[in-house]
Amino acid sequence: MEQQKRYGHFDDQHREYVITDPQTPWPWINYLGNEDFFSLISNTAGGYSFYKDAKFRRITRYRYNNVPMDNGGRYFYIKDGDTVWNPGWKPCKTPLDFYECRHGMSYTRITGRKQGVEASALFFVPLKKWCEVQKLTLRNDSQATKQLKLFSFEEWCLWNAATDMENFQRNFSTGEVEIENSTIYHKTEYRERRNHYAFYHVNTPIQGFDTDRESFIGLYNEFADPQAVMEGKPRNSHAHGWSPIASHYIEVTLQPGEQKDFIFLLGYVENEQDKKFEAPQVINKEKAHQLIAELDTTEKVDRAFAELCKYWDALLDIYKVKTGNDKLDRMVNIWNQYQCMVTFNFSRSASFFESGVGRGMGFRDSNQDLVGFVHQIPPRARQRIIDIASTQFPDGGCYHQYQPLTKRGNNDIGGGFNDDPCWLIFGTVAYIKETGDFSILDEMVPFDNQPGTEVTLFEHLRVSMNHVIENLGPHKLPLIGRADWNDCLNLNCFSMDPNESFQTTENVTEGTKAESLMIAGLFVVTGKDYVALCKELARRRQDDGGSADVYTAEAERMQQAVDEMIEAVKKDGWDGEWYLRAYDFFGNKIGSNECDEAKIFIESQGWCTMAEIGAEDGMVAKSLDACKKYLECEHGMVLNNPAFSKFIYEYGEISSYPEGYKENAGIFCHNNPWVIIGECIAGRGDDAWSHYAKILPSYVEEKYQTLHKVEPYVNCQMVAGKDAARPGEGKNSWLTGTAAWMWYTVSEFILGIKPDYDGIRIDPCLPETASDYTVCRKFREAEYEITIHPNGQQKGIKSIVLDGQPVKGAVIPYSAGKHIVEVNM
Ligand code: BGC
Ligand code: NOJ
Repeated sequence: MEQQKRYGHFDDQHREYVITDPQTPWPWINYLGNEDFFSLISNTAGGYSFYKDAKFRRITRYRYNNVPMDNGGRYFYIKDGDTVWNPGWKPCKTPLDFYECRHGMSYTRITGRKQGVEASALFFVPLKKWCEVQKLTLRNDSQATKQLKLFSFEEWCLWNAATDMENFQRNFSTGEVEIENSTIYHKTEYRERRNHYAFYHVNTPIQGFDTDRESFIGLYNEFADPQAVMEGKPRNSHAHGWSPIASHYIEVTLQPGEQKDFIFLLGYVENEQDKKFEAPQVINKEKAHQLIAELDTTEKVDRAFAELCKYWDALLDIYKVKTGNDKLDRMVNIWNQYQCMVTFNFSRSASFFESGVGRGMGFRDSNQDLVGFVHQIPPRARQRIIDIASTQFPDGGCYHQYQPLTKRGNNDIGGGFNDDPCWLIFGTVAYIKETGDFSILDEMVPFDNQPGTEVTLFEHLRVSMNHVIENLGPHKLPLIGRADWNDCLNLNCFSMDPNESFQTTENVTEGTKAESLMIAGLFVVTGKDYVALCKELARRRQDDGGSADVYTAEAERMQQAVDEMIEAVKKDGWDGEWYLRAYDFFGNKIGSNECDEAKIFIESQGWCTMAEIGAEDGMVAKSLDACKKYLECEHGMVLNNPAFSKFIYEYGEISSYPEGYKENAGIFCHNNPWVIIGECIAGRGDDAWSHYAKILPSYVEEKYQTLHKVEPYVNCQMVAGKDAARPGEGKNSWLTGTAAWMWYTVSEFILGIKPDYDGIRIDPCLPETASDYTVCRKFREAEYEITIHPNGQQKGIKSIVLDGQPVKGAVIPYSAGKHIVEVNM
């Protein structure tokens, strides 16, 4: 294998990834912002910002898939004599004497040195504020006085990121700005229906500015050599249409050893309709002034930054492990949790692979994401559950996506993904187990956002379960609909028209026999959860002196449905060595030894082993062995094997991909954890660990930085599988259900700390070589310090001692306060 070059390393103490070479194999990005105002930032300061919705409220412009890659961002140009350079190397690419990018928890610090000057820029979005702070520190380390010319740069997006890229006949005439002292305001369309504007400010007097792109850059120049910068002369341009930008020009004198801070603010403001203007055509700047005043000094900014760091300290203080294995600890304690927060915030909307215009918040995606996040800020998970459920249809079906700005179901994609309803159970149960807050089930939640249709959230869960059992096929297995978790297994689509989308094209549903074993397993897992929830509700009713009949009856009804599903899988879902994947439209097997290609799929192995279907008959063990034998490779488990070598009309998009990529035998990291959990439930700790370590970023980081290409501190959606041209190459980093599933797997199934209704269940599954470890877990009003002594065992608890007293069973009963727990396996 070629020698793998390194581009950076972890700094666990600061919870940072430190990039030391700007020419990473792909832009390595970070996310800023936690609630409303968000930014994406690459290791060379590329990227963009938006308010809440990457499609409808894009603040700065970005060019995806451009030449060069990662084009557009917040750029500082420093002109020192004839040399022009950027602290992040790009866009000028002037060789630097020193370069470093530190991606941390919701902040990024980029430092460059050239000709005795150090420029260090700290980027973050302060808590609860609608702005990105850019604190630029310039220091003169040379012996001579430095006369520097500093130019800032941002390019405005005309708000709707989709039309911004296509409707030029309009766009080139609408752009409007205002300039007031050191602040440049972007107010396109404010004169009509918009009540919001953005601004770019610096906390020092400026000696010039530009707001018109062509004036600043020149029509035949580039970001790498803007005319104004190269000549050291701002144009003081005022944009009228075309492409508005914001650039400050500042003359800086630095004595030897002297250092100066500049606080740049990229802000966003909304005004009430009747307070939009302070004079005809002049925008009301009151709120902008206020925001600026809150962040106009180094002290104020440092305080806001310290608050942000404290916020992350608290979030990461909820679950902490000490195993002595740095690679595991840093993923569990820092990066996996961080990625969970980011995916929870963004769903699949905005990354360097998701343009922010195509997709809103996924129904299934968000329910899974919140499982990775619920321990950190439960109230936000609660709100998310209610938002998601509000887009459900009365029959339990679901809009596949919704827009975060409007919270409305997305009509472009519609519904019909028959796994979607089950995920609502998955998310809600996780929320209640974490918080003990059963009141969420009584919340009144509408269908399809229609006022007047409100029923309790519990009723939403009930119709979700019903949706599965009311849509069974000829083998009494769940009908797949448009697709199940695998968006690309489109068994009712039958499209031969390349201009059609596999996701949205009208399906043939009449007469379909297409059934999904993945949904069958998912139904059994979530059905068992639902039954347990009903029983828990019944018990609580009884304790309150009420009648538990409704819940008891519901538990029985669904238990029966679960039992029937298990029987159906055993009867018609087993292929002899593994679980089938599906039946196609005509009732033919998919994922069977009888098939020419794609004889085995991962999804049904994962879900049916998690559901323990046929464990007593050896089915689970055989299925897990088959995963090792046929799916596992050096970089993880592929989705199916062998890969499809040709397009199959009856199967849809899955067979459209070249071998080894995406849903056609790529390593779809998202579903590796399903099998790993199956291994854990079966008690096979060594196997679980070896699968887990293969896709654990810190292990990949150590071995494959160049090959893997994408960020080494987070999981990506897909790693090219063994049939691909470049096995091990990663794609689609950051926004993936993998984050939540990796977290769920390691925190609950490997390390074995599982929130439950009445306490914390202890149930680790470890490799035989595991040594003692300690988990500090904040849980509701309690704090547990749990030390596990594996004693060479992979699974099974011998004894639990809570504050010196032996505990019966595997659940530490919840009580507020601090507790010490000793567990022997
Ligand atoms: C991709 C899937 C994705 C789907 C929906 C497909 O092309 O392969 O991973 O979920 O599109 O956007
Ligand atoms: C990405 C989607 O976001 C997710 O919902 C889906 O399950 C996977 N692709 C697999 O197709």
